[in-house]
Amino acid sequence: MSFPNLRLRRLRKTGKIRELLEEVRLSPKDLICPIFVQEDLKSKIPGSSMPGMERLSLGDVATEVNSIAELKIPAVMVFGIPTHKDDHGTSAFNQNGIVQKTISEIRKNLGNDIAIMADVCLCQYTSSGHCGLVKGDKIDNDSSLETLAKVAVSQAQAGVDVVSPSAMMDGQVKAIRQGLDDAGFSDVAIMSHSAKHRSSLYSPFKDMAHSAPQFGDRKTYQLPYTNPKEAMREVETDIQEGVDIVMIKPALAYLDLISMTKEKFNVPIAAYSVSGEYALVKAAAMAGYIDEKEVTLEILTAIKRAGADMIVTYFSKGAAKTLNER
Ligand code: PBG
Ligand code: ZN
Repeated sequence: MSFPNLRLRRLRKTGKIRELLEEVRLSPKDLICPIFVQEDLKSKIPGSSMPGMERLSLGDVATEVNSIAELKIPAVMVFGIPTHKDDHGTSAFNQNGIVQKTISEIRKNLGNDIAIMADVCLCQYTSSGHCGLVKGDKIDNDSSLETLAKVAVSQAQAGVDVVSPSAMMDGQVKAIRQGLDDAGFSDVAIMSHSAKHRSSLYSPFKDMAHSAPQFGDRKTYQLPYTNPKEAMREVETDIQEGVDIVMIKPALAYLDLISMTKEKFNVPIAAYSVSGEYALVKAAAMAGYIDEKEVTLEILTAIKRAGADMIVTYFSKGAAKTLNER
């Protein structure tokens, strides 16, 4: 009888041995928690397409962000839902806009106890629902850049730590860096949605944030999911333009791109686990088909294992609670 000379099961014998051998450890510190703040609300309302997520009023922000910070989550990502939309997306860079007020409110109440990140895009703010400004029947790149830079500067004035452009306009990182530096905000960082794909997994978000395009789709600016080399060119371009953190989005179906980015570049990597990924797990859990807590940790750990240094996820609070209890 010949016995195996290597017994990998030895190191799986007990819970404590397995703990000791863990190669990838998910922590609440890996997470960035998105919040949605709606301008015309008196108090928070549930988001129908994203069970467990809410649209907050400005008055809810301090309490909510405080509870996020208490879970040891180091950052929030602010998304605004404005009352007024127009062709130029002016509410996006209004100093009294909902995102700007939310940023000040968080800073006033929490100081530096949480890092404040904010989405820089136009789709919630334009009548067209597109991420850039419309000229004729096209999304115009260069006039959009000027506006995106203004949005970033207005958020910097409100006290943001990190701006996160998600419009997928060419040159957005460079334009925003220039805008921030010219306005004296050279210490505000940029986390770009570098490889943001045109994905059907964004539907719940568009419903939540009222940001669905009124005509056409986002295929002329967001990446096709068929093109990994092109995704790496987007990442490379953002690095050349001075980005601080690159992002791959969505996450779970794009783990190959996260690991490719880690292999090719020496830059912090964020992964955005999007609304559809959240909805898939929530729906299956609510139907009793899967264990939400366990599946959530498994998915988030896999995203980290692929190479993500941080994860934007709607599971932030739930996952942090589970992790803190263990
Ligand atoms: C728009 C934006 C979208 C998401 C984040 N910012 C939607 C889109 O591009 O159509 C999606 C995020 C998610 O689904 O969680 N700039
Ligand atoms: Zn957008």
